[in-house]
Amino acid sequence: MRVLGLETSCDETAAAIVDGERRILVDLVLSQLAEHRPYGGVVPEIAARSHLDHLDRLVAAALDEAKLALSDMDAIAATAGPGLIGGLLVGVTMGKAMALGCGKPFLAINHLEGHALSPRLSDGVEFPYLLLLVSGGHCQTLLVEGVGRYRRLGTTVDDAAGEAFDKGAKLLGLGYPGGPAVEAAAARAKAAGADGERFALPRPMLGRPGCDFSFSGLKTALRERVLEAGGADALDPATRDALALALQEAIAAALADRTGRAVERIAAERAKVSTLVVAGGVAANARVREALAALARRKGLALVAPPARLCTDNAAMIAWAGIERLKAGATDELGLAARPRWPLDPDAPKALGAGVKA
Ligand code: KG4
Ligand code: ZN
Repeated sequence: MRVLGLETSCDETAAAIVDGERRILVDLVLSQLAEHRPYGGVVPEIAARSHLDHLDRLVAAALDEAKLALSDMDAIAATAGPGLIGGLLVGVTMGKAMALGCGKPFLAINHLEGHALSPRLSDGVEFPYLLLLVSGGHCQTLLVEGVGRYRRLGTTVDDAAGEAFDKGAKLLGLGYPGGPAVEAAAARAKAAGADGERFALPRPMLGRPGCDFSFSGLKTALRERVLEAGGADALDPATRDALALALQEAIAAALADRTGRAVERIAAERAKVSTLVVAGGVAANARVREALAALARRKGLALVAPPARLCTDNAAMIAWAGIERLKAGATDELGLAARPRWPLDPDAPKALGAGVKA
């Protein structure tokens, strides 16, 4: 069984082919980073235009590299949401057209389901498992019970963890995207012997009941520290790096604390979960992984973190979600529309908070 997957929900144009034996036959990702960098964030119109410019050639290159034809595919899978609608339309329309053209089924994939099932592609993790999904757009814990069976335990009430890194980096004048820049600055601070507690920032929601996340207060506290130090332009490099270290420490501690609450909640329900999975772009952060590894050890869980390439946006996870859904007998109608919002757990109560996305 082989599926061609397309990913166009944000600022990566990606095409990949994956087979039913968990082999990634080809995995191409074209980042639009350089196109968005001058604006300090993703510009939806530029993203949509760029997907349109590149997707057809990327698919041709993927088929070429795998030495396969469209007729060798068992289905075409495309991310249909959640995400930026212009980009989603490009991928979904192309996916449908190819499916129609080669007479194969079309699969509309939830981008979050792609992330959620990625540890089964990389590590063959068995259901059920607890997933911490931490990316630029999402921050949630989910109990993954099977294909299409996701129960949300906690979600952010304002910013996602990746947004906290990105906005924090902006406040520190560290550039875009923020996560890798903050991690590099924090490493410099550590190498220089900086004390992570020198600029101690609040650990949002620490110890509070429930499993939800919040990061906007952290951003405000960081802004105050930057102003106290004379503003971003006046920061000397050592102070800037020390603030980046403090930011990273606070985010890692908050993620571990809130995920710990989710572990306690499923333990109280006697769900038989033995694995904690962390996925999404923020999972690339070594300090975040370390904090989660310590949590997993304390709770007697195995920690699985798919390789960084599978954690950040890619089409291999979309093709794999297609394989899983195809194996489960699911396909989609060509009339299906792209969806900018598409929660994985439709029954989850809407989180209270200003910037809630899912
Ligand atoms: O999963 P992803 O590639 O795209 C979304 O679906 O959002 O995640 C991107 C996010 C960005 O916010 C980026 O700053 C963050 O992941 N990120 C990191 C690191 N690498 C990427 N955050 C912290 N440390 C990193 N090394
Ligand atoms: Zn993503």
